[in-house]
Amino acid sequence: MKNKYLYIETFGCQMNVHDSEQMAALLTDSGYKQTDNMKLADLILFNTCSIREKAAHKVYSELGRLGKFKEQNPDLIIGVGGCLAQHLGTKFHKRVRHLDFVFGTHNIHRLPEMVASLQKKREKITNVDFHKSLNSIGIYATPGNGSISAFVTIMQGCNNFCAYCVVPYLRGPEMSRQPEEIISEITRLAADGIKEVTLLGQNVNSYGKTLGNGLNFAALIRKIGKLSGIERIRFTTSHPRDLSEELINCFAEEEKLCKHIHLPVQSGSNRVLALMNRGYTVEEYIKKVDNLRKVCSLISITSDIIVGFPGETQKDYQETIDMMEKIRFDSTFSFKYSERKGTAAEKLEGKIEDGEKQRRLKQLQALQDMHTLEKNTELEGSWQELLIEGKSKNSESELMGRASSWKIVNFKGNPELVGKLVDVKITKAYLHSLRGKLIEEVGNVN
Ligand code: 5AD
Ligand code: SF4
Repeated sequence: MKNKYLYIETFGCQMNVHDSEQMAALLTDSGYKQTDNMKLADLILFNTCSIREKAAHKVYSELGRLGKFKEQNPDLIIGVGGCLAQHLGTKFHKRVRHLDFVFGTHNIHRLPEMVASLQKKREKITNVDFHKSLNSIGIYATPGNGSISAFVTIMQGCNNFCAYCVVPYLRGPEMSRQPEEIISEITRLAADGIKEVTLLGQNVNSYGKTLGNGLNFAALIRKIGKLSGIERIRFTTSHPRDLSEELINCFAEEEKLCKHIHLPVQSGSNRVLALMNRGYTVEEYIKKVDNLRKVCSLISITSDIIVGFPGETQKDYQETIDMMEKIRFDSTFSFKYSERKGTAAEKLEGKIEDGEKQRRLKQLQALQDMHTLEKNTELEGSWQELLIEGKSKNSESELMGRASSWKIVNFKGNPELVGKLVDVKITKAYLHSLRGKLIEEVGNVN
């Protein structure tokens, strides 16, 4: 039988990247082979994002191009999943005529069934119901290509309803996976050669709340820390309100927990934070950052910031800049506020004009670049343990690894080191990466 090829395009966050890995695993079991060449594909999936308008636009424009492919190959099956699919449901079919199926965030596990039905009969399919079970996040998928890092979803959904955010509407209410399932998945990953796991959820800090068995996120990390074969644990993303003292202490006590936390602050103005429904003040946020740095002086702290939220005055914006000056993040992702239908912020007064949002964003990003370079420069001369991920992007003869802080380090080394933990001395800092030298090249360790 002729090989059937699958092409998946992923938009958006790490959660979506992992969802796509799970889609690929399911369809590989149904006989598809994954390809990077869209033109070869018998089945094309777009795993979509709709967190900001720009992300949604990108999906539409790329999907538009697929019409041609379908004309050339009427047997081609085209499906869309992810947040935009969840949001639009059947309306997606009206907007993009050449789609065969639309599946929502809780329906990944039904992919093989949907594809099999389309192979038999071409009738448009839409599956966007929410389910109480966690079927769509418990799919086992090892990343291919000899990768040594894997994602593990530990919960789905979100109950926070931050005023700007569509996630609670598109991924449903928060639900945690049973710890035994998570542990057995990670045990299997370790047996498959995975050394680093990144625990995924919209708000991993509240892991366990829906289970009612007393096991919280810190306890889960301690359990995972005991698994042999796993050398590094990461997690994303955290909500500052739910970051407990117990979890903060894990950064000092759990050797395998990487010294990095992504802790989205969103704004430095208490007025805006309240409008955003974030549930903490700037002072409380700063106190948590101080505590993190107290227990783990080398911890890298990264964040998300939104500028131009409705009603954000120049003074509010200045407070965000002041907060950044005080905290000095290692890096931040920053965004212009993007209005999303159905969210609380949609109804707020005081929308900011795009030019002004752009100006604030540019200024904030310039400041962050200064801080990032400063933070990276502090590491010059230090020793860093790296997990080697592969060849460096810029040079065939160099390797790339990530430090515990998640920072990228490039250095000269034997490709046999890929997948191993090695120590390097940092010789030079740049904005987006560091340069290092292996012990044997440095010579005298002292
Ligand atoms: N507009 C701009 N940024 C947003 N984010 C989420 N929703 C919006 C929106 N409507 C940002 C937040 C969040 C990150 C994943 O995306 O900063 O932490
Ligand atoms: Fe969105 Fe807030 Fe939930 Fe994060 S915590 S997914 S920003 S609603």
